[in-house]
Amino acid sequence: MKKHVRLGAAIMLSTMMLVAAACGNNANEGSKGSKPASADKKITLGFAQVGAESGWRTANTNSVKESAAEAGFELKFSDAQQKQENQIKSIRSYIQQKVDVIAFSPVVESGWDTVLKEAKEAGIPVILTDRAVDSKDDSLYETFIGSDFVEEGRSAGKWLLEKYKDASGDVNIVELQGTTGSAPAIDRKAGFEEIIKDDAKLKVIASQTGDFTRAKGKEVMQSFLKANKDIDVLYAHNDDMALGAIQAIEAAGLKPGEDIIIISVDGVKDGFVAASEGKINFIVECNPLLGPQLMQAVRDVLDGKEIEKRIVTEEGVFTSEDAKRELPNRKY
Ligand code: AHR
Repeated sequence: MKKHVRLGAAIMLSTMMLVAAACGNNANEGSKGSKPASADKKITLGFAQVGAESGWRTANTNSVKESAAEAGFELKFSDAQQKQENQIKSIRSYIQQKVDVIAFSPVVESGWDTVLKEAKEAGIPVILTDRAVDSKDDSLYETFIGSDFVEEGRSAGKWLLEKYKDASGDVNIVELQGTTGSAPAIDRKAGFEEIIKDDAKLKVIASQTGDFTRAKGKEVMQSFLKANKDIDVLYAHNDDMALGAIQAIEAAGLKPGEDIIIISVDGVKDGFVAASEGKINFIVECNPLLGPQLMQAVRDVLDGKEIEKRIVTEEGVFTSEDAKRELPNRKY
């Protein structure tokens, strides 16, 4: 009998020790009350940025850097120059450096599973910002914070549909796509097509990538203008490409916003200036100021809090008139 009591006590004691040890090792320690785990030490965040291809990207980078500094995090930042292999290298280096959280904006949608599995095996949570991956396994990342790019494409399409609802004859549209294989390029194209297919006179006569840059937007627009005499509308997947295209349109002796109607996405200051001058007719906003939401998500993940798998950014749409009014308040 005595032996049983002693054995029982020993089992209880070792169970308690195991539980205590497990709690001590838990990265989410503190989530059940008292002090949050993220308050215990300086958090290191590894951020693998796409590049510096556009005004939007610059605003996004500034937002991440400023918000990390405000949150008191140590930020390790890399610029992949729009190359997936560079982003993968940075993520691997963050894994080696044992950062607390990795965040990145994937340059293209596919090809991430291997490196995401490596991060998972190392016990490092990953947060996607701005762009999505097409991985089937959503346990490879904690959350995806960013815009609904399909909806942005739909907004562009809806405005166009309304503008030409009473027109007769074909409306010839040229499209400047974003980086090939990137989520915003795929989704903005899909959302736009989904809407304009309801009106047979709205025809996309040429569509090519301008890689989200001003220089490429100008170059591709020049070739569109050479090959097509009758362009009615330009749909550019971002402001920078639209701004480059405006230079090409003006050089060809045409009036942007009048001879060619222009729709773009982003709503950066330069885009707003062009819109307020009537050179861009409609802008679908894409908000780059994701830093504060990202830092909150980092804390929540480390504190073991429930976090939404998808956090969608709120944004608006702007005509030239709206842009004129809003320009003085534009922050980026
Ligand atoms: O992923 C967001 C897109 O990337 C922005 O619309 C574009 O300007 C940027 O380069």
